[in-house]
Amino acid sequence: MTSQPQRPAFGTVLTSHMAVAAYQDGRWSELELKPVAPIELSPAAHVLHYASTCFEGFKAFRRADGSIHVFRMDRHIARMRQSARQLVLPEPDPAQLKAMVYAVIDRCREAVPEAPGALYLRPLLIGTTANIGAAATPAVEASLLVLASPVWDYFSGGMKPLRILVDDVNTRSAAQMGMVKTGGNYAAAMGPTLAARARYQVDQVLFCPGGEVQETGAANFMLLREGELLTRSLDPTFLHGVTRDSLLTLARDNGYTVSERVFEVGEMLEWVQSGEAALSGTAAVLAGVGTLVYRGAEHRVGGGDVGPLTRALRAQLVAIQQGEAPDRHGWLEAV
Ligand SMILES: Cc1ncc(COP(=O)(O)O)c(C=O)c1O
Repeated sequence: MTSQPQRPAFGTVLTSHMAVAAYQDGRWSELELKPVAPIELSPAAHVLHYASTCFEGFKAFRRADGSIHVFRMDRHIARMRQSARQLVLPEPDPAQLKAMVYAVIDRCREAVPEAPGALYLRPLLIGTTANIGAAATPAVEASLLVLASPVWDYFSGGMKPLRILVDDVNTRSAAQMGMVKTGGNYAAAMGPTLAARARYQVDQVLFCPGGEVQETGAANFMLLREGELLTRSLDPTFLHGVTRDSLLTLARDNGYTVSERVFEVGEMLEWVQSGEAALSGTAAVLAGVGTLVYRGAEHRVGGGDVGPLTRALRAQLVAIQQGEAPDRHGWLEAV
């Protein structure tokens, strides 16, 4: 057995440079590429008091020939603009945001790890208007930053089946904010998730307010069985994952019947008696669930291990991302 090198935890290391732009007097400034350093912010900044902030997360992959390819950046930029609109923040200009991402990758090329590592890109938008009386007034000044972080294989220790608490009491976010990638949603999920970890030794919480299955704190949820995939239909209550969309597309390509509809905890518990359950997102791609804990009872998902359909679908997406399988849907862009 080869020993794994010690890698820093996901997101704890940044590249040397970041890109920044500021919104003032109704327009965005030119982008600037700067060494990563603390940023100056008024203590009265809108974001610090009224949480006017949203962000994105996506990856760039290095191939064996040294070329670097970004995965579905346009979808992530569109989602960030939608988040900004919902939060009444100035919308980033898509061409400028793309140029910022390219500038950071280009400056930090040598920091992009080899597969199965990747460069994780993190655009961040914050309201900077200095006004502590602006609870019902939007920020008219804002900063846009693009950070980057080299990340390594999420599953370097092998794919471990996840243990998930099914919570039909708490909500992850306000109903209309679920589709917005904003810090407050993560703050809201933190308490229930930490409490569940302590009480039930679970990895994550699957939020199912009113009994309807939604998503976990940082990933979408799907059920699989031979030739079939079931996941919640898009609505404002949860984040519209780009990985979710990619996996649904691949499942359809594979001839699966893909159902997007509202379903409840009872149906999920029946499904997992013989089927599979998994979480999807940029960081983990597709992570298999081994156990669901619901109202104090443990429900084993299939055989309790990461299922074969989950493994196959994950491998199919990873192969495309890493340039080992053809990119039939035009998801990758060379930088
Ligand atoms: C709450 C939440 N749901 C779902 C996802 C998955 O989204 P994506 O596949 O675009 O990374 C994420 C991760 O960004 C998330 O934070």
